[in-house]
Amino acid sequence: MSTPDSKHAQTLAALGITSADGLHPLFADLRARFDSEAATATNENSWKALRDAWLSRKSGVLTLVTDNWLKPSPPELKRVVGASLNELRSHVDAQIEARRVSIETGAEAVATVKERVDLSLPGVHRPVGSHHLIRQVFQEIEDIFFSIGFSVVEGPEIETPYYNFEALNIPEHHPVRDDMDTFYLDLPKGAPGPLLLRTHTSPVQIHTMEKRQPPVRVIVPGKVYRRDNPDATHSFMFHQIEGLAVDSDITFCDFTGTIDYFVKQFFGEGVKTRFRPSYFPFTEPSVEFDASCVFCGGTGTAKTGGTCGKCKGAGWIELFGAGMVDPAVYGFVNYDPKKVSGFAFGIGIDRLAMLKYGIDDIQVFFQNDVRFLRQFP
Ligand code: FA5
Repeated sequence: MSTPDSKHAQTLAALGITSADGLHPLFADLRARFDSEAATATNENSWKALRDAWLSRKSGVLTLVTDNWLKPSPPELKRVVGASLNELRSHVDAQIEARRVSIETGAEAVATVKERVDLSLPGVHRPVGSHHLIRQVFQEIEDIFFSIGFSVVEGPEIETPYYNFEALNIPEHHPVRDDMDTFYLDLPKGAPGPLLLRTHTSPVQIHTMEKRQPPVRVIVPGKVYRRDNPDATHSFMFHQIEGLAVDSDITFCDFTGTIDYFVKQFFGEGVKTRFRPSYFPFTEPSVEFDASCVFCGGTGTAKTGGTCGKCKGAGWIELFGAGMVDPAVYGFVNYDPKKVSGFAFGIGIDRLAMLKYGIDDIQVFFQNDVRFLRQFP
């Protein structure tokens, strides 16, 4: 690069130049120096250094030539110095611009090569996921009930004791609470409460009847929570589908017919159903529904001989609880028990899925082991 002790830092007089003849080698020399410096400007930084060295207004070579050679030159030399300086300026300007373009396009070319998409490379394989088996079973059940005029409603997982118990005819000291009085929320002092994690989907019966007048035909899929120790058939969080149908003329036959239709659609036409008396405070009469064992065909004998391990030889498997809605419940939602009747049921989805798909441990639903999940694409 040019240095302050270069010739252009001195006046023509100091250099002993008094005629046009002496000027030509001076300018030729300068141009040669520029060309050799320009040849080394191969990237943005060295290009900027070249531009500043030659074109900077304060101390660039061309400014120094103007100040030291042109301005103080005697009148007889001024014209020649001016013409030579203009020629040099045009050359410097053009070359500096040409180098800028060349550096930029070079950088672009490198970037293009780096970013170029190689269409011949094999694609990235992104496996398509699938629904969890519990979600698939929910959908299967929902489709069956959609086909006979039910719709889906949802309700909160955090409930008040009123909806989870009292409005379902389970007063505070009822023994049934022993099974269900479980996860209460730790609320800040002064907050309205208490609140708990719902232990069944039945509170949504109350929410629905509070909001709608009969006819009501709904199913309620969702998560529920109980203080049950985990084992092969128990989890502290599991899934239920509640069903509720209330109208002016619903009979026990409608109830058993609906359940029978559902079970046959879900397990297959060959499956038989039966019900046994049971007890729930919010249904009267209450029943437990059983299905003939899908593993041994209801015989109680395993296909390989010996007692069927699934139904333990009974030929029947307990499915879920249900019943006709207790008239006392209508009192909590301002329905007239003399004018309406209905039925309700609550299906444990996890155990139903275990039965249908021959799964012997409920915990596999929550362990998220892909080797299990992949079996149900
Ligand atoms: C109830 O929860 C009633 N609300 C059902 C009902 C609704 C009856 C409407 C009448 C009318 P129960 O406590 O039996 O009922 O639970 C229903 C189902 O949940 C059981 O049949 C079982 O399949 C499932 N279940 C209960 N506890 C667990 C648990 N800890 N882990 C997995 N599944 C469970």
